[in-house]
Amino acid sequence: MEVAVEIRELTRRFGSFTAVDRISLTVGAGEIFGFLGANGAGKSTTIRMLCGLLRPTSGTGLVLGVDVARDPEGVKRRIGYMSQRFSLYEDLTVIQNLRFFGGIYGVSGDRARERWALAMADLEGKEDRLTRDLPGGWKQRLALACAVMHRPRVVFLDEPTSGVDPISRRKFWSLIDAMASEGVTIFVTTHYLDEAEYCHRLALIHAGRLVALGTVLELKEVFADRSVIEVAAPRPAEALEALSGQPFVVEKSIFGTRLHLVVHDVEESSRRAIEILEGQGNMPATVERIAPSLEDVFIHHVEAEEARLVAEGPRAE
Ligand SMILES: Nc1ncnc2c1ncn2[C@@H]1O[C@H](COP(=O)(O)OP(=O)(O)OP(=O)(O)O)[C@@H](O)[C@H]1O
Ligand SMILES: [Mg+2]
Repeated sequence: MEVAVEIRELTRRFGSFTAVDRISLTVGAGEIFGFLGANGAGKSTTIRMLCGLLRPTSGTGLVLGVDVARDPEGVKRRIGYMSQRFSLYEDLTVIQNLRFFGGIYGVSGDRARERWALAMADLEGKEDRLTRDLPGGWKQRLALACAVMHRPRVVFLDEPTSGVDPISRRKFWSLIDAMASEGVTIFVTTHYLDEAEYCHRLALIHAGRLVALGTVLELKEVFADRSVIEVAAPRPAEALEALSGQPFVVEKSIFGTRLHLVVHDVEESSRRAIEILEGQGNMPATVERIAPSLEDVFIHHVEAEEARLVAEGPRAE
């Protein structure tokens, strides 16, 4: 596999706070690599280090073989970056934004590339529209087009789809897919777990640490020797309370009004759960086995990491 991004023990501290904690991973050329984590997990900090915008405290990041700490300018020239808040100029028109970013990246006057960018972003005929007046999904596609005017081989996208409607999100992902099939590497963060299904591989990060890495199928293997059952009852909070401490419950989480329980023995656990719910008059209740979702996987890893952090005690400075 041709390597596009390689991170070894990458770390960033802000004062005594560790925002990114010894993350190591490798991304292959042409991969769509999803970087998932809750608010404050360290996604943007990692991306900013990989884009040569923020110096790592320790560890190494290589992007297309260029060291992000030694040659940040070299990295910046070679990559595309869409920041968490698209950095378009609202007072410029569509075409002026494309030309501005093309200029920054040293590809001014490349009319063919401008036409390509307009077609890619589905903004043909919209060249003279003011960016300020564009709907969110259009701005997002324009921001992507601006970020790739110089044909970068690696593109970093920091929550590109947040605040965009589902149809625009879908359209955006088909652009990403088309770019990846031409060999462009995509490193993308998202909050939407359903979008993880578009990624070839995923990294889950929590409190600055890498807690899981793999394809969606590989990640779901944590449930290979366990099952997830879903419990629905009229009073879910009471149900959770009663079921939480039961020895047959390995893990539990609440999904809207339903509970997900990770168990070893589906039949025995389901029978016990119904018994307990009957005991508290929390009926009619249903219990059924479900295929674990990525959210179940995610919660599993976050809880395991939390337990590990508690066991480990305060972090050494
Ligand atoms: N310049 C900074 N100075 C101090 N702390 C910072 C700085 N930048 C980020 N942090 C902290 O580092 C942690 C990770 O932030 P980061 O922005 O990387 O998270 P994120 O995963 O991108 O979150 P979000 O999903 O909200 O965008 C947060 O606790 C944040 O407050
Ligand atoms: Mg962020």
